[in-house]
Amino acid sequence: MEQKRYDLEKRFLHGGDYNPDQWLDYPEILQKDLELMDKANTNTFSLGIFAWSTLEPEEGVFHFDWLDRVMDNIAQKGGNVILATPSGARPAWLSQKYPEVLRTNGHREKMLHGGRHNHCFSSPIYREKVAIINRKLAERYHDHPALLMWHISNEYSGECHCDLCQENFRLWVKNKYQTLEAVNQAWWGPFWSHTVTDWAQIESPSPIGEMQVHGLNLDWRRFVTDQTIDFYEHEIKDIRSLSPNVPITTNFMADTYDLIPFQSLDYGKFAKHVDIISWDCYPAWHNDWETTADLASKVGFINDLYRSLKQQPFLIMESTPSGVNWHDVNKTKRPGMHLLSSMQFLAHGSDSNLYFQWRKSRGSSEKFHGAVVDHDNDEHNRVFQDVAKVGASLEKIKEIKGKNIDAKVAIIYDWDNNWALNDAQGFGLKSKRYPETLQEHYRYFWDHDISVDVITPDQDLSKYQLVIAPMLYLMTKQTMEKLKVYTKKGGTLVSTYLTGYVNETDLAYLNGWPQELKDLFGIAVKETDTLYPKQKNNLSFAGKNYDVHDYCSIVENQAAEVLATYQDDFYAQSPSVTKHAFGTGEAYYIGARTTGDFLGAFYDQIIDNLDLANPWIEQGHLAVSVQQRGHNHYFVMNFSEESQEIRVASEGIDLLKNAPTSQPIQMAPYEVKVIRTTDG
Ligand code: GLA
Ligand code: ZN
Repeated sequence: MEQKRYDLEKRFLHGGDYNPDQWLDYPEILQKDLELMDKANTNTFSLGIFAWSTLEPEEGVFHFDWLDRVMDNIAQKGGNVILATPSGARPAWLSQKYPEVLRTNGHREKMLHGGRHNHCFSSPIYREKVAIINRKLAERYHDHPALLMWHISNEYSGECHCDLCQENFRLWVKNKYQTLEAVNQAWWGPFWSHTVTDWAQIESPSPIGEMQVHGLNLDWRRFVTDQTIDFYEHEIKDIRSLSPNVPITTNFMADTYDLIPFQSLDYGKFAKHVDIISWDCYPAWHNDWETTADLASKVGFINDLYRSLKQQPFLIMESTPSGVNWHDVNKTKRPGMHLLSSMQFLAHGSDSNLYFQWRKSRGSSEKFHGAVVDHDNDEHNRVFQDVAKVGASLEKIKEIKGKNIDAKVAIIYDWDNNWALNDAQGFGLKSKRYPETLQEHYRYFWDHDISVDVITPDQDLSKYQLVIAPMLYLMTKQTMEKLKVYTKKGGTLVSTYLTGYVNETDLAYLNGWPQELKDLFGIAVKETDTLYPKQKNNLSFAGKNYDVHDYCSIVENQAAEVLATYQDDFYAQSPSVTKHAFGTGEAYYIGARTTGDFLGAFYDQIIDNLDLANPWIEQGHLAVSVQQRGHNHYFVMNFSEESQEIRVASEGIDLLKNAPTSQPIQMAPYEVKVIRTTDG
């Protein structure tokens, strides 16, 4: 088989979203872009993401000449194009002529034309129109020398509640449960008399209708993911057959400033349908509510998740060279941060740093969003120079491209669990904080420079020495079995409070904590005490007391070793942290929500037992993150405003400076070094 052009590309990808379609009346700007692309040391551009109205200004009338020219020009300089399908935003004529393509919201209101990312995923007309334009793009460009990859649509998201989507949802439910009886059992129908007796009574959750049937809510979320993937599969059909050797991606997202996993689509499922994961990462650097290291650890976490979904390098499809336009405060990066934050993506497995956007648009809502080229059109400004420096740096470390990360520690994140837990009317409605809790566990490993994979429950566990699975409130019997097998064969498992309550349709387990979990952890969880925000309990662990808050599981010990006990309240002296030998492995249960202090002491012991400490670090520093990529490449990153030093076990070459490293390694504020050690 012909080798993929992507595999032959030995450079890291550097460049970003380029919208020449906004500038066709400004030929001097388009000319200037070509010149600036070289000066910025960029090599890859995503084209046509929102270009539908330029590509097809009237139904059936296509204009590709402008795109031909841009692609030829990029090819001429040896650059790459990531070519988009334009379904993320449709032309006005399409909505006007075919209103069925417009989305209907949960209140059953049909939306007007406008905005973007708001089409109905079921509409046969939208699907047909998308298939036509996608096919034309694939026919015309499948063997274009610049074509590197396909960028399908843009940031798929949202949901539609129109009649067509209701019909598809009913089919989905029917397909899953076969009979109404099974639906009523799974969704606990008789509750509030919500038994359904006709398929037509099944409706998507709505604020003006049903929101309290948790099994329905969960299935609706799964349907939305499946329906979005189905739309994506429809989009790529002809593209795949016309260009079988060109990889296909779609850009994923994170949720909120806190960089928690995207909430409304199960990317664990979606990942199986793309050739390469790409995603859009916008940390709020230099904010006023957390330290730079706090934020850097969250950036590490989410990138490790998106890498681990396919266990292979991924792409940063969008990031900003300065600020964005949609945070409350859109601060620009301080000197040094652009190089540091770009290198951090690579440190966690990215093979690119691509930007939104190449050039600031002149009008509309993104005219002040950070870009490589500002309205001043000048290559001498600070941001442009920072970008050029990143480009030059990527060139110096290109030997790292394609290398993977070998982690012995995994943290489990589960989209189904997140949805079910958020829905749960119980415990603390505002204190569940599932993704944030994973970030807290992750923090220990970030602080100690130990690589972590963040995986979904269906992934292989056998390569990990330590698996951390906090708060798996929804836990299928399959997952229980899998964790048992993993531990039995010698794995170390850590679990916490709020684990093992409901099954895959969000029905509570009967007869107490599931027997599988009792066997595995050697305990029985009897109750969960939920604390008010200002209340605390505390536990004593290895001779020290630690505050606990939000949740305390009350546990009966059956066969475990008690590592810590509560100190207060009616369950004082009862077990709060336990350890159970199971097969040749060990299963730990942390019964209460603890602070970083406790997690530090707890994981110190485990890391020691399993000999998982990073052997290269003789003396680290909490704010200096070291990430290993491949066998002998290390990214050393100072996420603090002060100079720091660390000591390492072997010398190497600082690839950015092309000079031997010193011992100790001195790190200026925000400095990054990429080191190849000589032992590899
Ligand atoms: C998203 C979109 C881009 C752009 C950026 C702005 O990631 O994909 O088109 O709007 O946000 O940050
Ligand atoms: Zn619809």
